[in-house]
Amino acid sequence: LGEGRAAEIRALIRDVPDYPHPPVVFRDITPLLADGPALADVIEAFAGLHLPGGGPVLDGEVDVVAGMEARGFLLGAPLATRLGVGFLPLRKAGKLPPPVDRVDYDLEYGSAAIELRTGTLEPGSRVLLIDDVLATGGTARAAAQLVERAGGRVVALAFLLELVGLGGRDMLTGRTVETLLRVG
Ligand code: PRP
Ligand code: ADE
Repeated sequence: LGEGRAAEIRALIRDVPDYPHPPVVFRDITPLLADGPALADVIEAFAGLHLPGGGPVLDGEVDVVAGMEARGFLLGAPLATRLGVGFLPLRKAGKLPPPVDRVDYDLEYGSAAIELRTGTLEPGSRVLLIDDVLATGGTARAAAQLVERAGGRVVALAFLLELVGLGGRDMLTGRTVETLLRVG
């Protein structure tokens, strides 16, 4: 994303103070999702990200895109289509029939668990993890653990928006983390 376009896309993310409770400032991406050209530019920006020592993910650098329920699905599935690879949903607990692998985690405003259907990943698959917001990093760390436990290799984690002050990157040390937009 160029600087001007990044500012326009940032303006399509609504900041909602004290939601779901104080002092959280909730970053609502629904206006962005509703804007066709903005959504297309975000997907294109993800597709153009470069991996360390490699080319853009567009050039066959990943085997599958994984997304965290629910907002990771909204960005991850169109990206998978753009890259010509499959999509792997990492679901909130209790949604997938057994057998599943599970990881429990904390996030900015609560705790949760995510699950992945056992056996859906080819061992050694190169996985690109996608989500809308990197906040405390709890969700992303759990997602990476889940993928690795299932035999996948997390080549990078990419987010639309990084909430820098919450220290999410510290939960992901040693991993490749890309963010299209950052706010304090
Ligand atoms: C949000 C967001 C990320 C996560 C980030 O999802 O989409 O997945 O929180 O927070 P963290 O970095 O502190 O872990 P949420 O669990 O609210 O679910 P949703 O996508 O279903 O709205
Ligand atoms: N997930 C975790 N923290 C969030 C926030 N402040 N806004 C939107 N999604 C989030």
